[in-house]
Amino acid sequence: MVWVLIYWLRRSKRKYRYPPGPRGLPVLGNLLQVGNLPWETFTEWGKTYGGLITVKMGMKKWVIVNSPRAMKQLIMDRGALWSDRPQDYVTDNYARGGMGLLFTKLGPKYNLYRQVAWKALSKTAVDAYQPLMDYEASVCMRTLAQLDGASIDPYVTFDECIIRTMITVAIGQIMEPHDPAVQTVVHHHEEMKAEFSFTRRWPDLFPLLSFLSGKHVKRVIAKRDRFEAFWQARINTLKQSIKEGSDVPCFAGMILKDPAAKISEIELIQLLNLIIAASDTTATAMTSLVIILASHPEIQERAAAEIEEVFGTDALPHLDDSVDLPYMSCVLKELLRYRTPNYFGAGHALAKDDTFDFEGQTYSLPKDTFVLTNIHALHMANAKYTNPWQFDPTRHESSAQVPSSTMAKGPFDERDHYAFGTGRRACTGMILAERELLTLAVRMLWAFRIAFATDADGREIKVDPLGAVYESFAHALPCQLHFYKRHEGVDALLQSA
Ligand code: HEM
Repeated sequence: MVWVLIYWLRRSKRKYRYPPGPRGLPVLGNLLQVGNLPWETFTEWGKTYGGLITVKMGMKKWVIVNSPRAMKQLIMDRGALWSDRPQDYVTDNYARGGMGLLFTKLGPKYNLYRQVAWKALSKTAVDAYQPLMDYEASVCMRTLAQLDGASIDPYVTFDECIIRTMITVAIGQIMEPHDPAVQTVVHHHEEMKAEFSFTRRWPDLFPLLSFLSGKHVKRVIAKRDRFEAFWQARINTLKQSIKEGSDVPCFAGMILKDPAAKISEIELIQLLNLIIAASDTTATAMTSLVIILASHPEIQERAAAEIEEVFGTDALPHLDDSVDLPYMSCVLKELLRYRTPNYFGAGHALAKDDTFDFEGQTYSLPKDTFVLTNIHALHMANAKYTNPWQFDPTRHESSAQVPSSTMAKGPFDERDHYAFGTGRRACTGMILAERELLTLAVRMLWAFRIAFATDADGREIKVDPLGAVYESFAHALPCQLHFYKRHEGVDALLQSA
């Protein structure tokens, strides 16, 4: 044990030079300083230590990419080195040692999964999924209409709607609200968020506690196996409907029917786990949106007026390429900038040792260094956004017509935001995510005026859109909102969808 410790101390002192960062406590490092909103703490530390900082989380050093320049220079331009995923005993077991996309290390398998998934989530594919998304959006709005103005925290309604939409898009089988499958996925997600959270992963931060990991791994494997069986049953049904020619366009169907997609059934099942990346992000974005709209009635009314002008009130809005909603599109771009749903994306790791110059200094980092991209810092500390702490859709007016997912592939400095990450690990589902947000937001604002609930004295119970409840994901704060119907036809038209 002593030799292991000496080896480890020598190795960590060897030749490496880390970027600067705040002093921490012995053993704990900066663990107690990062606070409840770590993205804000890191942004604040950036003012002292610069665009690339090191924080000590227990015995591990994390490097935080904390500025647009660092993001471009390291994650974009040195992406082959800086875009690996960390070796991690929880996710490695969950993803069977490197299947699926989110947790997979760089290499030929990852390239194949990425290629297959991009194709099944391309604009053409998403256009084909639009009717499924329209249907689920109407079901979601019906749930809100049934409240008849009573207040609600809409997170669960949005989350279940997005999970239904993602299952439907994944395997082409329409999910009704009370289908037990929806609760299976919701429950599995809750369980996995807890299993992935740092509060259960002490061995990651303190390797000397690795003897604690055995039970944790067993639990994760049991839950993974149960969930794989859930997908397997649905894939069997899909294969039958493909055989009979009765299938509808869907993610798994596109892959099963694509002769170039040479992946096994278990790999396909692991790919379907991209639902994990899809649901919390999109549901959190929707919840943050309603909090922001309730906080800014003038922005809400301008967006609603634009929607009514385009679609009228006699029929439900349907999106296609001919629809032009520049203001609504600016509101959604600003949502993803101002209250970015996924503050850190997913952890990156260095694929090899790297020596590089940054802001006049030379640093040298070992292979497997854990790297976090602080997307919040890019949005709040970027000179290109004036008054970054203000929610201002008009800042995106000049790019209103260009989807963020298109801009995310263009020149780095011209992007409207970095909410989908950047470089080779950028969000695979960004076209679907943007379309899903637009579909839900347009139907919601067509149908409802949103307002905060009031207290006994008639004062609005306001909620800070930038607040968050953070475990392994930064959820919006709990809130209570009213969804008042905007016109008489809302109920009948939603029922007819
Ligand atoms: C508003 C909604 C969403 C936001 C803000 C978002 C954001 C992100 C971010 C920041 C990353 C990490 C990038 C990195 O590691 O550097 C990511 C990864 C990913 N996202 Fe999304 N996402 C959203 C919705 C979706 C949806 C709907 C899907 C799928 C249908 C999806 C699938 C994925 C996958 C598979 C990855 C991992 C990519 C890889 O490792 O190569 N996301 N997303």
